[in-house]
Amino acid sequence: MKHLFIIATGNKGKIREIRDIITDPDAEVLSMREAGVEADPDETGTTFEENALIKARAVSALICQKTEDGTLSFDPTDTQIIVMSDDSGLVVDALGGEPGIYSARYLGYDTDYNYKMEQIMKRMEDVPEEERTARFVAAVAAIFPDGTEHVVRGTMEGVIAHSINGQNGFGYDPFFYLPEYGKTSAEITEEEKNEISHRGKAFRAMIALYHVWCAENGSLEEASKETSGDGTAQ
Ligand code: IMP
Repeated sequence: MKHLFIIATGNKGKIREIRDIITDPDAEVLSMREAGVEADPDETGTTFEENALIKARAVSALICQKTEDGTLSFDPTDTQIIVMSDDSGLVVDALGGEPGIYSARYLGYDTDYNYKMEQIMKRMEDVPEEERTARFVAAVAAIFPDGTEHVVRGTMEGVIAHSINGQNGFGYDPFFYLPEYGKTSAEITEEEKNEISHRGKAFRAMIALYHVWCAENGSLEEASKETSGDGTAQ
């Protein structure tokens, strides 16, 4: 039996990150487009978890539909299908959790991130150092082969810096200071970030949950070797 992870994203960076995490020899990772489906539902949830589930459900529904009409790009009869999606964002304590689930939309989808970060730093000019705490949050939702839904959360703690530094990463990384590295998350390497990132933690926790599911449902031979975790990844 093969294990096909279909990721509800078009983001190549996320797919690469997940392929690095899922190393089981009988597992394959495909973006939704590679699997022959495309979904872009409105993120109408009020939490990261709800929005991640909305995306996973939308892709899962399309996969079911295509399984019925026989137009999938793979053979579902010898394949366990797991649909996964994530929703993430930046939570700034001094701003009451903003931009939160609106991180991508904050000040406009197409607005330059340097401008978004400058505006946040401006709003925080009078915030004392010890209150500049923030975190990146990622919720990963999955629909397992038996239709059960699972959601886990990962976080990466940091501090909002006073300036923008670094070329790596994306989005809000250049002003997200990691005290233990003495650098922003745009100044550490991609490998370093994947090790500690909210998304990396949440995807690893979800894979651990899937290994537990496989151990209980008698598949994925390697499952028990790596199985650990209770679904939390703080
Ligand atoms: P989404 O999860 O793809 O909807 O993205 C949410 C938004 O949160 C991104 O567009 C970024 O603005 C922000 N974000 C999430 N994770 C990160 C990260 O690791 N670095 C920087 N910004 C991030």
